Amino acid sequence: MSKPLLIMILTWMTIISNGVSIGVNWGTMATHQLPPEIVVEMLKSNGFNKVKLFEADYKILTALIGSDIEVMLAIPNVMLEEMCADFGAAAYWVEENVTKYTFNGGVNIKYVAVGNEPFLQTYNATFFKVTYPALRNIQQALNDAGLGSRIKATVPFNADIYNSPESDPVPSAGDFRPEIADLTIQIVQFLYENNAPFTVNIYPFLSLYGNQYFPVDYAFFDGKNKPIKDGHAIYTNVFDANLDTLLWALKKAGYPDMSIIVGEVGWPTDGDKHANIDSARRFNQGLVQHVKSGHGTPLRSGEIDVYLFSIIDENAKSIAPGSFERHWGIFEFDGKPKYELDLLGKKANKGLAGAQGVSYLQRRWCVLNKYADGFLHLAQNIDYACTFSDCTALGYGSSCNHIGVRGNASYAFNMYYQAKNQKNWACNFSGLAMLTDQDPSVENCQFPIMIAYGSSVTLDRGVVYNLLRLVGGIVTFLLLV
Ligand SMILES: *[C@@H]1O[C@H](CO)[C@@H](O)[C@H](O)[C@H]1NC(C)=O
Ligand SMILES: *[C@@H]1O[C@H](CO)[C@@H](O)[C@H](O)[C@H]1NC(C)=O
Ligand SMILES: *[C@@H]1O[C@H](CO)[C@@H](O)[C@H](O)[C@H]1NC(C)=O
Ligand SMILES: *[C@@H]1O[C@H](CO)[C@@H](O)[C@H](O)[C@H]1NC(C)=O
Repeated sequence: MSKPLLIMILTWMTIISNGVSIGVNWGTMATHQLPPEIVVEMLKSNGFNKVKLFEADYKILTALIGSDIEVMLAIPNVMLEEMCADFGAAAYWVEENVTKYTFNGGVNIKYVAVGNEPFLQTYNATFFKVTYPALRNIQQALNDAGLGSRIKATVPFNADIYNSPESDPVPSAGDFRPEIADLTIQIVQFLYENNAPFTVNIYPFLSLYGNQYFPVDYAFFDGKNKPIKDGHAIYTNVFDANLDTLLWALKKAGYPDMSIIVGEVGWPTDGDKHANIDSARRFNQGLVQHVKSGHGTPLRSGEIDVYLFSIIDENAKSIAPGSFERHWGIFEFDGKPKYELDLLGKKANKGLAGAQGVSYLQRRWCVLNKYADGFLHLAQNIDYACTFSDCTALGYGSSCNHIGVRGNASYAFNMYYQAKNQKNWACNFSGLAMLTDQDPSVENCQFPIMIAYGSSVTLDRGVVYNLLRLVGGIVTFLLLV
């Protein structure tokens, strides 16, 4: 075989085998964090070579050194004002959080997310004025640092920035929300000129959660519903309809070939009647196959660049949007896979590789003492336990909703006890509780043992970045009614 031909074949083979790989989000709103080194190993062993973060945590960046995993860092919304007002602050941020890690063999930083869903309707215009100048300052700082050609600033938007009118709920009628259209197009133009992608978060689950009349099958990729027609285009799932609504809006603004990243997409496994293992696997597997198939959407063929939401469960996220918020992980909080997922999209039925070398607290649970005299104050004690731990699995439609009032008490006591690192004082509840070394889990209702990496987190940032993906979901629904 001739050398040029061989080289051609080899190049072609790498192109085929690499393709566009699936990325994943890594959020850290948990009371007990897996060590970043363990999570980085999980990323590697599952073939995720792209990760999206919600800040620029130095422990995480340090763990990513030398890994070659493509990284999207983020500047939280609360910092946008500073980044907007003061170029020096932007330059300092880039210096501290980007340049420091870009040495040879360092961290493969590819994007800096400027804010997170800053135009979300629920934020009441708070970040309208600051987002674009912050974006410009950050890209300029990257350019000044000599990184601009390989590291791009982008802004992850919620899908609520565009929609179609109720009178004509098809993608081709889509456009940006009127009050932010000019601002958004300015940003689009800037991104386009800088060869940076437009980033959008799309949540079919929320279409379903937000409306009981939503046709369930449209949320998935293997649905049997009657397709929706939009001119010659045929839509069989809401993900494509949503993405094409954005593509139409961009086309109308004069950017038909804008490159796009889907920054967040996924399905939760608990906390709602539609949030369970089977639906999550059905959605995520369908998504992976769809985005890697190259079919694209009716408006744009080719692979779709997506970041799954998310790698692990986060038990300290705000549940203002719903109890499901703490259950988006494809892995449990401790890095155990929840279901099989073939990330290559080749129907290989290959399982996910779990976290290795995780340390746990002792095999010990705190449960209701059935010999306690009288159950006076039981309700107050359950309430107390649940106020300071995660009881979202007990709610209606959730995995532990069927275990009865005594089960509820045991579950709540245990979650509190584990959250408090199994301290003896945390298993009392006016004498109603007792310790056991017998696993109290029932059927698919798991009583967890906490991992041995205690830490505390503040809850405010969760509220900021999670508050209403819901809005995006409702908008996507409008496309289908
Ligand atoms: C990033 O840079 C800023 C300086 O602007 C610094 O205060 C901060 O600790 C760094 N890390 C994160 C996570 O933002
Ligand atoms: C947004 O405005 C509404 C109505 O004016 C108000 O109730 C809500 O608290 C505001 N939200 C934020 C985040 O400022
Ligand atoms: C257990 O707790 C959940 C959540 O508070 C509640 O919906 C359910 O009704 C409780 N079960 C019993 C039997 O009290
Ligand atoms: C447990 O609670 C009971 C009743 O409130 C109290 O008398 C007892 O001292 C507590 N035990 C411990 C170990 O805190």
